[in-house]
Amino acid sequence: TPTYETPGHDHKYKNFNFALGRTTPEHIDSLESFEVKDSDAFLVTYPKSGTIWTQQIIISIYEQDGHPNECSTNIERMPWLEYETAEYTLLSSPRLFSSHLPEYLMPPAVKEKKSKVVYVMRNPKDNIVSYYHFTKGHKNTETPKSFEQFFEWYMTGRVTASSWFDHIRGWYSGRDQYNILILTYEDMIMDLKGVVKKLCSFLGKNLTEAAIDQVVEKSKFDTMKNNPKANYQHFPPEWFNGKFLRKGQIGDWKNTLTVAQSERVDRVFQEKLGDLSLKFIWE
Ligand code: A3P
Repeated sequence: TPTYETPGHDHKYKNFNFALGRTTPEHIDSLESFEVKDSDAFLVTYPKSGTIWTQQIIISIYEQDGHPNECSTNIERMPWLEYETAEYTLLSSPRLFSSHLPEYLMPPAVKEKKSKVVYVMRNPKDNIVSYYHFTKGHKNTETPKSFEQFFEWYMTGRVTASSWFDHIRGWYSGRDQYNILILTYEDMIMDLKGVVKKLCSFLGKNLTEAAIDQVVEKSKFDTMKNNPKANYQHFPPEWFNGKFLRKGQIGDWKNTLTVAQSERVDRVFQEKLGDLSLKFIWE
């Protein structure tokens, strides 16, 4: 069983905010020469975009394809590349990784396009609200005094994983360098089965209709909530005292953001990403 160090405040390295206590500059540097296997798959997200959901889908697809998940939790089956947990050195192939790394810090070997990258993004208004609740549950990072304060941190990139806008820009504009499938959280909400099929075909897994239905069933909000392998309730409460599976909806931001905040997101979205013809579903 891995142990989790208590994270402190974020620390910046190579212009990116990492959770302090969970990695080191040496580890991040070592990723430059990280050896990639053709069978590796990387799930990359900005935090609170549907990471653990997509993990569960991918792990379930591999299970149906004859690679049982013998780890006690999904985080061990699909560990974070940038955290110095080292479990992944023990992973047998096919190796599955999760990551919040920005495009420019990804191991360069991934660009050889043999290994696969799945990038999941979520509309920033729901992302902010989800991240706010998550941060409140974090015991050793600074607790925001109000949503307003957290909103300010988020908009200025003063959170773990830095700016959402930069993360999206880096990955989206750099996508052609990778063998990559880009998905949105909203697609997953609206057509989970369709997304599972897309993932199967991207990952080269030819599953029967019944196997696909099983993956869908295992990845539903309520199923995951009750599955200790998938629900992330295993984090010790002194590290995290909240819920990874909180609401699982599109449009919850309307209950939290003011009109002015919503308009500010629209404005910054237009300024920073307006040229990329990205389309999000907001409600
Ligand atoms: P909310 O806080 O809006 O509920 P991450 O895994 O990147 O930390 O993202 C967490 C968000 O994904 C949470 O959003 C969580 O509820 C949502 N999520 C996780 N599993 C889900 C599922 N099976 N269906 C819908 N949403 C899910």
